[in-house]
Parts: sequence; C-alpha cells; structure tokens
Amino acid sequence: MRHLLNPLDFSVEETGQLLDLAKDIEENLPKYSHVCDGKKLATLFYEPSTRTRLSFEAAMLNLGGSVLGFSSADSSSAAKGESVADTIRVLSCYADICAMRHPKEGAPLVAANHSSIPVINAGDGGHQHPTQTLTDLLSIRSLKGRLNDLTIGLCGDLKFGRTVHSLINALVRYENIKFILISPPELRVPEYIREDVLKANNIEFMEMDSLDEAMPSLDILYMTRVQKERFFNEEDYIRLKDCYILDKKKMKLAKQDMYVLHPLPRVNEISVEIDEDPRAAYFKQAKYGVYVRMALIMTLLEVK
Ligand code: CP
Repeated sequence: MRHLLNPLDFSVEETGQLLDLAKDIEENLPKYSHVCDGKKLATLFYEPSTRTRLSFEAAMLNLGGSVLGFSSADSSSAAKGESVADTIRVLSCYADICAMRHPKEGAPLVAANHSSIPVINAGDGGHQHPTQTLTDLLSIRSLKGRLNDLTIGLCGDLKFGRTVHSLINALVRYENIKFILISPPELRVPEYIREDVLKANNIEFMEMDSLDEAMPSLDILYMTRVQKERFFNEEDYIRLKDCYILDKKKMKLAKQDMYVLHPLPRVNEISVEIDEDPRAAYFKQAKYGVYVRMALIMTLLEVK
C-alpha cells in the first residue's frame, strides 16, 4: 500500500507515468467511467477548500466510485477532541482511500502511520501540497510541452505558500530549471528550501523584490496569494497582502509564450483584467486538477 504525502514519494519516472495517465484521461474520459465502481473516497478536510476537495470528489465520481467525508474540523469529532490517529483508524473501516487536509504540518503522515488505506496529503499547514504539485506539473507540461529547460518565476508569499514549497521540491529533479523567486524580504522561501533543496541540488536561482524586473525572463509565472491564515499578526498581513498585483501593464513585459499559473484562490494578486489573456492559464490549471487526481486515485488503488 502506498500513500502520497510529499511530491518526492513518486520518482520522476512514476510522476511521468501518472501525468501520461492524466493526459489519457483528459482525452478519453468515458473510458475511465467505471474503473472505480464500488470504491469509496473519504475526504477529511480540517481546513477550508474549494478546488482540492471538490476536484477529488469529482475525480472519484468520474471514475464510477463514491465519496464521503467532512469539510471542516467543526463538523467532525475533531471538535470533541478525537485524534487524527483514531479518526483514520475509523475511516479505514468505511473507505478505500482518503484525502486529508489539515492545518498542522505532518498530520497526514500521522494518519498514514495509523491507516490501512492509502492516505493522500491534500495540504498540511505551510508544508506541502503534493496533489497541487502534480496539477502544476501537468499544467506546465501541457502548456509548454516539457518539464525541463524552463525559467520559473514564483511570486508572492513564498514563506507560507505550501504549493510553492512542493513545486520547488518537485521541479529541481528536472534538467536546467532556473527559479526567480519574487517576494518581499519578509516572505522569502524558508531556509530549508533555499539551503537543502535549491543549493543542495545546485539549482540556479535568484531572489528579488521586483516583478517587473523578472517578467521578461520567465517561461512560467506562478502567482500566489498572501496566506492570511498563517500570519500571527494582522498588521503584517495588511501591509503585505497587496505587494504584487499582476495586471495588463505587467503582462506587456512578458514573453508571448509565457503562461501564468496560480493554485487559486486568488484575492487581489491577479487583476481580473488579464483573465481573458491567452497566457492566463489558472482556470485551465484547475481543470487539470481533476484529471491528475483521477490518475492518482487509480494509481494508489492499483486499478486500470
Ligand atoms: N489550490 C487549492 O488548494 O485550492 P483550495 O484551497 O480551494 O483547495
């Protein structure tokens, strides 16, 4: 039995196979409509979510399976003090696979250690979000035709943004990837990403404040929201929340074949005026999330 807790749980080869399966699902959706007949997915969401939870549910329904779960800690027995370990032991009796989002880093790992069904980390605190990473990899590969030889700009809250941490971890395994890390000094990537991931893998990267300066070099711009829920101090959040706003003026500085991704939800960091720009790919990216989660469920349940 396998879990997905970290994007590195799958080798580059396994990730490639999963992305190939997701692509085939996109092109031949009806072919997969019964492969999970009789199987159940539990969605255990202790934190809010729109895309991740509902795309997991759509994925399992598309595969012919069914779904059960909760969408907030308050509506589960966590509100009465039940531990993650006990919850997963019980859910293992009700479902065949589960996706868990939790505000505490490492909670899905605790669940996996007590589970008899595959556990998928659907986002743990400011730590990792591996299924968003698979979605991002599928999006980049579909839009650019490759996962190597790319200059990737990551912009916004690089400190608390778990999607950023997961994506950097995954992309350093491909050839000739360069990063431009655009953030205010307070929201730079954590030290372990800089030292143990980027420097340890000899990855070329720059840290800068100016999005305008970075724009002309980028093949992909990955915008992120300033993570209000991870700030200890509201004043700091208010000061930093609108530090970058991608608008038409900034898009004029970019290459014609540069694509903008965003894990969503967005707040103000991408102006709606660029939604119709053909390079704005974030809603397409959200759609890829369903195909990639279908492929992941099939892979972990070992169904064909
Ligand atoms: N991208 C993402 O994780 O979105 P949700 O928080 O809506 O699930």
